[in-house]
This record gives sequence, structure tokens and C-alpha cells, in this order.
Amino acid sequence: MENGAVHTEPTLMDGGNYIKEGADDAKSTWLIFSPSCDDEAGSLADALVLFKKHKINLKHIESRSSLRFPNRYEFMVECSPSSTLGAAIENLKETSLYLNVISRNHKDNRDTVPWFPRRIRDLDKFANHILSYGSELDSDHPGFTDPVYRERRKYFADLAFNYKHGEPLPRVDYTKEETETWGKVFKQLTQLYPTHACKEFNHVFPLLIQNCGYREDNIPQLEDISNFLKDSTGFTLRPVAGLLASRDFLAGLAFRVFHSTQYIRHSSVPLYTPEPDICHELLGHVPLFADQAFAQFSQEIGLASLGAPDEYIEKLATCYWFTVEFGLCRQEGQLKAYGAGLLSSFGELQYCLSDQPELKPFEPDVTGLQKYPITNYQPLYFVAESFEDSTEKMRKFAKKVPRDFGVRYNAYTESIDLLDSKQQLEELAQTIKCEVEILEDALRKIKFASKNYDSFVVQ
Ligand SMILES: [Fe+2]
Repeated sequence: MENGAVHTEPTLMDGGNYIKEGADDAKSTWLIFSPSCDDEAGSLADALVLFKKHKINLKHIESRSSLRFPNRYEFMVECSPSSTLGAAIENLKETSLYLNVISRNHKDNRDTVPWFPRRIRDLDKFANHILSYGSELDSDHPGFTDPVYRERRKYFADLAFNYKHGEPLPRVDYTKEETETWGKVFKQLTQLYPTHACKEFNHVFPLLIQNCGYREDNIPQLEDISNFLKDSTGFTLRPVAGLLASRDFLAGLAFRVFHSTQYIRHSSVPLYTPEPDICHELLGHVPLFADQAFAQFSQEIGLASLGAPDEYIEKLATCYWFTVEFGLCRQEGQLKAYGAGLLSSFGELQYCLSDQPELKPFEPDVTGLQKYPITNYQPLYFVAESFEDSTEKMRKFAKKVPRDFGVRYNAYTESIDLLDSKQQLEELAQTIKCEVEILEDALRKIKFASKNYDSFVVQ
């Protein structure tokens, strides 16, 4: 496929960038529980006796002050698989005020909530649960018979594999050949952006040139871009060693974390790549993550995915595909591209704005069920009115995800607050009240300032 969008073979892809479903070898079950006894040491000791009685091995134990019950403690434990776990949980329930089961094996147990990261550093837990290593190339990959390229891909996969949250992103000395490949892609695509990309993209792109080393003769470094995005919207990048499951990839977005490749496509066909590469990430994805409304929209998809049943993960991954990867929007009466799969494909960026493809309004209920090809240009695109409008629609859709708790990202602690108790809702209401007061105060001041300005102008 000439200048094709960046996708792997059809049987493997069911979502956007680095999204792939498949078997998961993680077998742990996580329990969160608040003992009815209010003595931390004593209640933990009792629980440990119970786990010992049922021969449950614990891989991880963590205690904290309970957000659900004032002056109580809660424990989070990671349990190894065991046929007696069910009995242990039943026993533990008898002595707990609260108990929630979170499991990677949710398919085996309809009562459990699928595991999801609660803190940003939990992303380390699945970062290497990859479904294929980044250096494994298919026989039809342009670099399959090139040993130098394969070695280089292994180097990049290892860099990402060894990365841990909080470390600086690895800086890479790109070779002359790699930089030339980037330059060819950069030169072609930047010709189209002024006329084909949405206004938000074109607003940010010059800032990336100024601040992050976006140039035809330079491949920008993930660390510099991540710092720029952090300052703009709180988004950060983290390197990824291979394909992640949809559930894991989407969970990253809930933390405003985007999993990014760092290698580049093979030099023999610079305008084609069968998988996401650094051209796709840096030219297609990065600019819009610096836009507040788009960042909010992306995070909304991520938050909706946390603990969602598999069928909803599929719908959300499909919404991601038709927006973040292949979204179009209407601006001042004209169609523009904002999806990264379009903004990183010289051919499809022109095709998508032609009169050939079918267009439908973005509507998560409809979009989430739409089938799509992954090795050809899209026959159908969904058009957003604005990122704010799409965010609102995603939020409404998220309410349909069957979960018996609310989720909220806490930017102070970089963690997900689970909202499932009266105490937490009261605290949230208080936080919102403070924010509304700040808003009211600012509105009063701005009104005052604008009156003064008007009178100043009149004088
Ligand atoms: Fe992508």
C-alpha cells in the first residue's frame, strides 16, 4: 500500500497506535480491603494469618489511610494465583468494612473488576506486558532482510524495556541514514499541514520547531518533547518496547501518558511504515497533545477505560481509532485532519479531504461499533464539531460503562481516585465548591477590569 497508514497485519490490530488485544500472562489478583478493626498492625496481622491459612502467597502488600472510612486503614495486596483464593476472599469479607477484587483474570470471574493502574508509576507494571517485542519483524517488513536495521530495532526495544517511570527518557544518537529518512518524511508532510491540518495543530507546530528541535535535519528527542508537553497540558511520553493491549494503552491516557515508539521506519521506503514509528508519533500525535481541549478529550477515553468490561474496551479503542488516529473536524466550514494516522501519512492526508471517503458525525455510540480496514485508506471518517464537543460526548458515553465506582484523576498525586463512598463524594464536592469560588471571583474581577477598560477607552 503506497504511503499507507501505520498499521500492522489485519489479524493483530483492533485499535490505534500500539493497541493490540491478546492473551495476558499476568495472573495476579489484587485485593483492596479495609478491616473492620481500626488497629493497623493488628488488622494486617489478622489478614496475613488468613492468607497463610488458605496458602495464598502475597507478592506485594501496601497500607494507606482509607479514603472511604475516616481514621481507618486500607490494604492493597497482590495475591499469587491459587485455587483457594475464592475461599480466602470470602473469609476476608467477613472481617472487612470494604473489599474490592481487581484482577487481570477478570475473564474467568465476572465478579471482579479488571485490574487497572491507580498511580502513574503503576504503568511500569504493564509496560513490558507486550504482545510482541519491537525488534520482531514480519517477513514482509521492509527491514526484514536488513541485519543492521534489525539490530537497531533491538537496541530501541531494549531501551524502552528497561525504562522505569520517573527516569529521564533515553536520548538517542540517530544515524545519518535515520535522520535522512526523517527529513524526507518531514519535508513532504510539512508542505501539506498549512492547508490540511486543523488550526490547533498548526498553532502548536511552530512551537515544536522553536522548543523541541523539530527540523528536517534533526530527529527530536522524546525527553525534550515530553518536557514541552508537560508544561503545555501535563501530557508526558514514555517509550514502549512493543505492542500493548488496548486496555493498557488506553489506561496510560487516563494519566495523560502517551506510549511512544522511538525507532524509525526502514530507509528503503521512507513514506511507508507497516507500524507506528517516531515519524508517526512526533509528527502525527505530539502536536495535538499540547492542545488543552484535545488533551482533555484523550484523557476522557483513558478514564472511561479503567476497570471497564472487555466489550467497552473494544468500543473505546474503536472511538480512539476514529478520533485520535483518523479523526476529521470541521473548522470554519472546511474539513481538516486532526488524527495522527492522517497527519503522518502523505497519501491519506490528501485522500481524506477529497470527495472520495464517506463522512459521518462523531457519535461514540455509533463510532464505537464501526468496523474498519487497517491496511487501506479508511472508506469512512467521523467528523468532530470541536474537541470540546467530542469530549462532552465521550463523557456521556463513559457514563454507560458498567462500573460501580466513579473515577477521577488526581493531578496532585498523579493517581486515580476511586469514588465509591459518601466521604469521598463530600470531599470532591468541597473541592468543586472551592473551584467555583475561584471562578466566581475571577469573573467578578474580569468584569470589573473590562468596565474600567471601557471607561478608559471612552475617556
Ligand atoms: Fe498512533
